[in-house]
Amino acid sequence: MNEIKIFSPATVANVSCGFDVLGFCLDSVGDEMVIRKTDKKGIHITKIEGFDLPFESELNVAGVSALAMYNAIDVDFGFEIEIYKNIKPGSGIGSSAASAVGSVFGINELIGKPFNKTQLTEFAIKGEALASKCEHADNLAPALFGGFTLVKSISPLQILEIPSPDDLYATIVHPQIEIKTSESRAILPKQIALSDAITQWANFGSLIHALHTSDYDLIKNSLLDVIVEPHRSKLIPCFNKVKEAAINAGALGAGISGSGPSIFTLCKGIQNAKNVEDAIKSVYSKTGIEFDIHVSKINTEGVKIL
Ligand code: HSE
Repeated sequence: MNEIKIFSPATVANVSCGFDVLGFCLDSVGDEMVIRKTDKKGIHITKIEGFDLPFESELNVAGVSALAMYNAIDVDFGFEIEIYKNIKPGSGIGSSAASAVGSVFGINELIGKPFNKTQLTEFAIKGEALASKCEHADNLAPALFGGFTLVKSISPLQILEIPSPDDLYATIVHPQIEIKTSESRAILPKQIALSDAITQWANFGSLIHALHTSDYDLIKNSLLDVIVEPHRSKLIPCFNKVKEAAINAGALGAGISGSGPSIFTLCKGIQNAKNVEDAIKSVYSKTGIEFDIHVSKINTEGVKIL
């Protein structure tokens, strides 16, 4: 195989109480990439459609992760990468992670899959770090593994796959404003109160238990973030109104997707997710801010060959 076309999905990181460690994978939105072997050694980005991003490999998230992998293999050929970007950078649904994951997944397939998914995450972290100025894998892991993932540790990298209840859907609204991950990390406190930490880890533990046992009521009771959301929600127009409207329409919970501005909700069943979509649309259409909205089943497959 000399050429491959792949779909690299959008993801939701943090999931309210799991800042920097929990994430899940979406199936209705993602980037496409074509990767091919070339005689010319190195990594060459030859086409970018959708958004204005750098072609220099060392300045491009997909290029940096591909270079990290390329430097770890011994081949006498190179790779060309075409990027068809659908996920807007700075949207909060894992745009940089989709780029970072797509290039390493595609190259791995073309060279006979010598690396496992955890090793691919190690390479992809280098690309993600270019975008967010720190090494975190809570978008990368669900994009690579699919479903819900828990990044237990970055060094050494340890990723746990968490089951997704069958009837779990997400409705995500993406207001068309940009929030840079590096900036929304900079506004977070460096220290937190012990009482907040206790609330957060109780909710995080119970959310993981709820996902394992398909306990939708417990998911609903656990989707609470007392540490990050109070700070970041100020950057997102109408965040509280959207959250209230979604919960009134039957969502299990709502929170900031990654570093925002996207807002995610989790819902039981497709009909409920569509009702929540309507409720969010009616709030957001009054703001004058353009937005996209997606309803998605949890994608248990992750990045894939098209
Ligand atoms: N956990 C990261 C953050 C995800 O919230 O900063 C960035 O998408």
